[in-house]
Amino acid sequence: MTEKATLHLNGNDYELDVVVGTEGEVGIDTLKLRANTKAITLDPGYGNTGSCTSAITFIDGENGVLHYRGYPIAQLAEKVSFEEVAYMIVWGELPTQAQLDAFKVQLDEQAMLPTGIYDLIKTFPRDAHPMGMTQAVCAALESYSAPDADTNTHIISFIAKFKAITAALYRHAKGEPIIYPTSGLSYAGDFLKMMYARPGNDYEIDTAVEAAMNKLLILHVDHEQNCSASTVRMVGSSQASLYASISAGVGALWGPLHGGANQRVLEMLDSIKNDDDRTTADYVAMAKDRDSGFRLMGFGHRVYKNYDPRARILKAATDEVLNKLGVKDPLLSIAKELEQAALEDDYFVQRKLFPNVDFYSGIIYRALGIPVNMFTVMFALGRLPGWIAQWKELSDDPKARIYRPRQIYIGETKRDVPAIGERG
Ligand code: CMC
Repeated sequence: MTEKATLHLNGNDYELDVVVGTEGEVGIDTLKLRANTKAITLDPGYGNTGSCTSAITFIDGENGVLHYRGYPIAQLAEKVSFEEVAYMIVWGELPTQAQLDAFKVQLDEQAMLPTGIYDLIKTFPRDAHPMGMTQAVCAALESYSAPDADTNTHIISFIAKFKAITAALYRHAKGEPIIYPTSGLSYAGDFLKMMYARPGNDYEIDTAVEAAMNKLLILHVDHEQNCSASTVRMVGSSQASLYASISAGVGALWGPLHGGANQRVLEMLDSIKNDDDRTTADYVAMAKDRDSGFRLMGFGHRVYKNYDPRARILKAATDEVLNKLGVKDPLLSIAKELEQAALEDDYFVQRKLFPNVDFYSGIIYRALGIPVNMFTVMFALGRLPGWIAQWKELSDDPKARIYRPRQIYIGETKRDVPAIGERG
């Protein structure tokens, strides 16, 4: 491996440093490029641009590999709790038993929302999209946080409260009274209780559902420099607060090309089911036709050019959860049929388009009784510790600089302002 790259530009040779990551990823360091050459890199969509070095998550998209802090995603999804993964992703190592016990106590102590937040949630129209409300509530949480609290206190409080926020939004939309958090439960279990318990009634947590929820949350925890994580870093790079940065991340996640895809997948499967005129094959044909404006939602990924390992785990989990709950969902057969048709089609094979995390997650959420418009909030619930880890890594880096990309200007060159009668 060379340690320098040479750039030949305008008759001159420039040497650029090469950075190699612990998994062998190679980056050409262009930090001094403009200062030395007057040129910048141009990479719309940032497909070839590393915005940072990071020790949080590793993805090998060619081989379908995903590690959080070095641990393979499949092992984490099988062996540990969401609380352990949240702790590890934020602070770097899996907790010892004592650290985990202390973390859980802190989560319980911080789980209740301030009255003002419950009141705020009640002011939203019941049919408003829950992602917009989530974004507003995340930003509003700052107004209720202790200004002199240290960063770790804010982080624990945010993770503790996010399940109560999600459940309160769900109950508000249904016009049901809010259920407050209960101490001593798992993160997934307390969330389920706040979602589904009837006021005054004991709620028995189904261990199969709790395990499925735990797995779903873990699979969504982090995914390196995706659109929302980069947004969190971008906003955080101006030294904006954790709350402002996460709120922005929620907004980025909402879009259908990112986390909003899980809602769109379900809507797509539903329209295929209800469409008497078109078959699954017709939908695959439409996805291949640029002019149709239709894409196979839950398919394709900027980084994975192989099966998304999260989708592989979720596909197996979908069968398992539906069997355990005794749910027969016709959308699952349609999803599998669609996947099979796409995986055998040259268009998808050549472009290396595989199911992503959003393809099967919605069918599980649906079996658990979560409404379709809440799916992306479920993604956010799992992703919060990852966003926090990204924000913290940037905030802790003494060399971090404000994110401020450049551009190549292609507009009008200098001209004089005409009088109003001389325009047009
Ligand atoms: N259906 C049909 N064609 C597709 C799809 C799809 N889902 N995804 C990509 N393509 C085609 C695209 O038209 C292009 O074809 P061509 O080379 O002929 O122009 C080629 O594949 C490359 O696509 P791209 O849009 O340049 O790829 P990208 O890396 O910019 O976009 C993506 C990645 C995820 C936005 C895109 O695959 C997509 O829109 N997928 C559907 C939405 C989705 O499922 N999003 C969730 C992503 S995973 C979870 C997350 O990040 O939240």
